Amino acid sequence: MEIKVSNDVKNLAVDVLAINMFEGEKTSQELANTYAIDRDGFKGKLGETYLLQTYGQIPAQKILVTGCGKRDEFGENEARIAVYKSVKKMQQMFAKTAAFDFDCGFDYGKSGAIGAMLADYAFDKYKSKKAAGLDEITFANVLEESVKAGIGFGKAMKFARDLANEPAAYATPSKLAEIAQNIEGVTTEVYNKDEIERMGMGAYLAVSKGSVEPPRFIHMKYTGKNVKKKIAIIGKGICFDSGGLDLKPPSSMLTMRDDMSGAACVLGVMNALKEFNPDVEVHGIIAACENMPGCGAYKPGDILTAKNGKTIEVDNTDAEGRLTLADALVYACELGVDEVIDIATLTGACMVALGTAAAGIMGNDEDMIHRIIETGKNSGEKFWQLPLYKEYFDSLKSDIADMKNTGSRNGGASAAGVFLQEFVKDVKWAHIDIAGTAFLDKPEKEFIKGATGSGVRTLLSYILNS
Ligand code: BES
Ligand code: MN
Ligand code: ZN
Repeated sequence: MEIKVSNDVKNLAVDVLAINMFEGEKTSQELANTYAIDRDGFKGKLGETYLLQTYGQIPAQKILVTGCGKRDEFGENEARIAVYKSVKKMQQMFAKTAAFDFDCGFDYGKSGAIGAMLADYAFDKYKSKKAAGLDEITFANVLEESVKAGIGFGKAMKFARDLANEPAAYATPSKLAEIAQNIEGVTTEVYNKDEIERMGMGAYLAVSKGSVEPPRFIHMKYTGKNVKKKIAIIGKGICFDSGGLDLKPPSSMLTMRDDMSGAACVLGVMNALKEFNPDVEVHGIIAACENMPGCGAYKPGDILTAKNGKTIEVDNTDAEGRLTLADALVYACELGVDEVIDIATLTGACMVALGTAAAGIMGNDEDMIHRIIETGKNSGEKFWQLPLYKEYFDSLKSDIADMKNTGSRNGGASAAGVFLQEFVKDVKWAHIDIAGTAFLDKPEKEFIKGATGSGVRTLLSYILNS
């Protein structure tokens, strides 16, 4: 699908011309006013559409009146949803060319392009019959550069979603490393098992031991021209989470190829940086491995030593993400960055607490957490802060090591958070739990079933605004 900009879309002979309609107001097309509003009483609620044949009265074959809700409630998020809904409608009627002639009082180019690309998304690589889509969309009343920015965001999300949707047999730790090495505009270092061992990453290494797929520690670095800030983003990269010896039941294991959604997010963001050239230094870090119950697997009762020397008693091999993140956090803190953000499909508890509506966020710096939450609001992603009270550490106390990797089931998202905090030193840190938002088992909002690219929009915006 090609996205273009033109200010003369009224004369384009497209299959569909989409126009906006605010509740209680007329539209820019007389035809639409006569039939949609006056005759049929179309209200123009956000996301609702009304289709009209033009029979040669204007160059476009059809007009799609796109409900945009109330004018004073219409912003970037609403624009994205409105465009998404109309493009979905256009696909249903097998349209190939479309134009958007929205007149909504602001430049909706970025949100429009993102909405269109989200609507165009399909994971049909393994399908003989590919999904039907539009060939071309032209936006009017927008700046070329805002559409370009939207395309950059759309591509980053697609990149992350494709990777997280891929079967684990494809998206292995080595494959993630290969992908990272092929990203332009960043330098990438990949460490193998022996090097991981030499770096003292005993917690991460233990998780990888039950799999025949070797672990890969991935460190990407982007350097802007006038570096104003240094940020490290760490993505949980468990390419498949079987639970290990504490094996998951089949129903819980079914989607566990998505347990590298944090890593996919980091790769999508790192891949997008070259298109925006922000004045920031960004480190993208992934401790990739599988969590499998093979002969070499780590066992409940094992005691692991992380890179910072702290010891961990393995209470449950299914709490593997925090073990890999522990070593990645210590590594990131040693880089001398200003801020570290980790993003992870970390706990079922976070999914129970917040569902698919919001990701959990916690950390050691209220201002940073607040800025991420605000960036999310403007990007269309919700984050809800969970506490890191020291009481949560009580259940992680061990008789034989510095801590256990799991404790009480209650407050599980925060317990994982305080565990991670043990590996954070002298840096502003935020932890984002996307267990509920990364992967959908049915279509929701602007997403089809499967991977959503959770965190991509927010982290990319956050970096660009830094
Ligand atoms: N990858 C899972 C968390 C998860 C669950 C993500 C559901 C997405 C959907 C994580 O590694 C895990 O297994 N966590 C356990 C921790 C428990 C053993 C303390 C959990 O949440 O059950
Ligand atoms: Mn697990
Ligand atoms: Zn996991």
